[in-house]
Amino acid sequence: MTTPDPLLLATAVEAVQKAGAIQLEHFGGPLRIDKKGEGQIDLVTEVDVAVERMFRAMIAERFPDHVVLGEELQQDDLLARTAPGYCWVFDPIDGTTNFAHGLPIFCASLGLELDGEAIVGAIYDPTRRELFTAERGQGARLNGERIAVSRADSVLDSLLVTGFPYTVHEPETGEELVALFGHFLGRSRAVRRLGSAALDLAYVAAGRLDGFYEATLKPWDSCAGALIVEEAGGRVTDWDGCRFQSRMAQVLATNGAIHDEMLAMLTEFYARRTRGDIE
Ligand code: IPD
Ligand code: CA
Ligand code: CA
Repeated sequence: MTTPDPLLLATAVEAVQKAGAIQLEHFGGPLRIDKKGEGQIDLVTEVDVAVERMFRAMIAERFPDHVVLGEELQQDDLLARTAPGYCWVFDPIDGTTNFAHGLPIFCASLGLELDGEAIVGAIYDPTRRELFTAERGQGARLNGERIAVSRADSVLDSLLVTGFPYTVHEPETGEELVALFGHFLGRSRAVRRLGSAALDLAYVAAGRLDGFYEATLKPWDSCAGALIVEEAGGRVTDWDGCRFQSRMAQVLATNGAIHDEMLAMLTEFYARRTRGDIE
């Protein structure tokens, strides 16, 4: 595996740090907040859009032949399938609901794919000044220091984390995911819900959390974090155990040691649901 051009990681770091500076300028102040989607709970602030515009201008100037998949000004074709060549996958604020409520758990998340494979990832949490980075084959870092996943070897001894999609008000989705939350709650040390999938993944990479699962992620939520987890020695798949790729909705990311046990628990949950043992 050849090391990616250092300019790519440098650009990713510069971008997420600039994103963090813009986020902090507005954090806690008055914000224009719009609602998107049918459920009216998916928020977009003027800051999400301003950060994405900054990022798109940076890539257009520096790498005019690269494409960008961003959450707020997205192109549907890039969302449906990976692109040939370089594709920057960007979430200008991951944790927008927290951000809009003045809760300091949010970040910017940026992954760079080459022919559909993530080669660089950067996640920056400006309130804690924590920068998580990875280059494919080069390990994962927090503020420049190598990080590694935890050593927990059973789900019972694990601190898990999850998130809920904006479709959670739909009765079937809500009931299923709350029942699944209960399933893991009864089998682990605890299950958290922080509100930022990218930070959830970064924390699995740093060994603060042992496993993360979520049902309906988008590439900008998972692209950078999945690479950082893998480079920290963890494992990332879908809920059937297939190797992660950023266009998959279901994601399971763990320290590796508890991965098969979590997969088995997911299988057990859906088998019981099919039999009608769980609502
Ligand atoms: C959301 C957060 C949340 C997760 C949702 C995501 P956003 O991203 O990562 O933790 O549960 O699925 O959509 O909207 O804050 O960028
Ligand atoms: Ca997100
Ligand atoms: Ca977002």
